[in-house]
Amino acid sequence: MMSTLFSPYTVKNCMLKNRIVMSPMCMYSVENEDGKVTNWHPLHYGSRAVGGAGLIIVESTAVHPQGRISVKDLGIWSDDHLEGLKKIVDTVHKYDAKIGIQLGHAGRKAVIDGPILAPSPIAYQDDMKQPEEMSKEDIRKTIADFKEGARRAKEAEFDVIELHGAHGYLINEFLSPLSNKRADEYGGSRENRYRFLKEIVEAVNSVWDGPLFVRLSVAEYHPDGNKIDDFIYFSQQMKAQGVDLVDCSSGAIVPAKINVYPGYQVPLAEEIKKNVDIDTGAVGQITEPVHAEEIVSNGRADLVFLARELLRDPYWPLKAAAQLGVSIKGPVQYERGWQEILPK
Ligand SMILES: Cc1cc2nc3c(=O)[nH]c(=O)nc-3n(C[C@H](O)[C@H](O)[C@H](O)COP(=O)(O)O)c2cc1C
Repeated sequence: MMSTLFSPYTVKNCMLKNRIVMSPMCMYSVENEDGKVTNWHPLHYGSRAVGGAGLIIVESTAVHPQGRISVKDLGIWSDDHLEGLKKIVDTVHKYDAKIGIQLGHAGRKAVIDGPILAPSPIAYQDDMKQPEEMSKEDIRKTIADFKEGARRAKEAEFDVIELHGAHGYLINEFLSPLSNKRADEYGGSRENRYRFLKEIVEAVNSVWDGPLFVRLSVAEYHPDGNKIDDFIYFSQQMKAQGVDLVDCSSGAIVPAKINVYPGYQVPLAEEIKKNVDIDTGAVGQITEPVHAEEIVSNGRADLVFLARELLRDPYWPLKAAAQLGVSIKGPVQYERGWQEILPK
């Protein structure tokens, strides 16, 4: 059978062998609050490479200690992080997958000691810390942190960088009128709310010429939040800046009740792709191979991101190939097991 899911995807200098992406997932496996890779990380990411995913995106990795979601987050704020990150990259490359890293800053959602930062001094919810309003100097420094993170990602030989602009973390906090109440050029109009991300993309572009993805929360589930035309605008701007793909997630900028069902965020990826000439990734409760195939074959998105399903089954790509009747090449060590269920 012809399968789009198992067809290659080329972005800039990088070719993915299929459209299956391991979505970034925090592993909370840093041991000494130092942001450093532990034994868990190469094992965890390496086994999804063995399992057949085309691209694996390493969990949200903090560009500054203050931007950690928790003290167990990976970090990329120091050259001391390079050795461990390189270990993940080499392991995944050895087993024939491409590897990306999600660069993040938690903003007002950081759960750490000491002050935390946000565009405006509004806590995410009552039981969370009130952030400090970022000064222009804080903004400038944080943009430089993203740039340094990208420079290190390149040095560690990652294939893809994804900026974490979703789920109510710092970049998302600037984009959303729900969390950004600034009166300067970084707040107010959507042009202004985009400025922080714009300057981060510019800074990253100055040190990185590989594939650049941005994850956005393309629905805010609040009447005063950004609407789809705002996300179309942000995506048009990103496209003009050379961003390659918008990874379309949703929610978590403010607490909200979300009606979740298989593929619930796929229409968001479809809407962005239709209205902006930019590639998209679909994510969220995609677990069935035929569902993943449908999404990419019907052009709803270019890549399918799987998160929890790949925690349950690292060999999901093998299962998908068998179900879709596609022949794939597994690791030589496992050939005798795999060939029995794959078409000849
Ligand atoms: C344990 C766990 C950690 C996660 N960490 C991140 C993260 O670091 N960055 C991110 O953008 N999304 C993160 N997510 C969200 C997933 O990438 C994904 O968008 C979400 O789980 C929906 O996909 P799924 O239904 O396939 O799990 C995380 C999800 C889980 C379950």
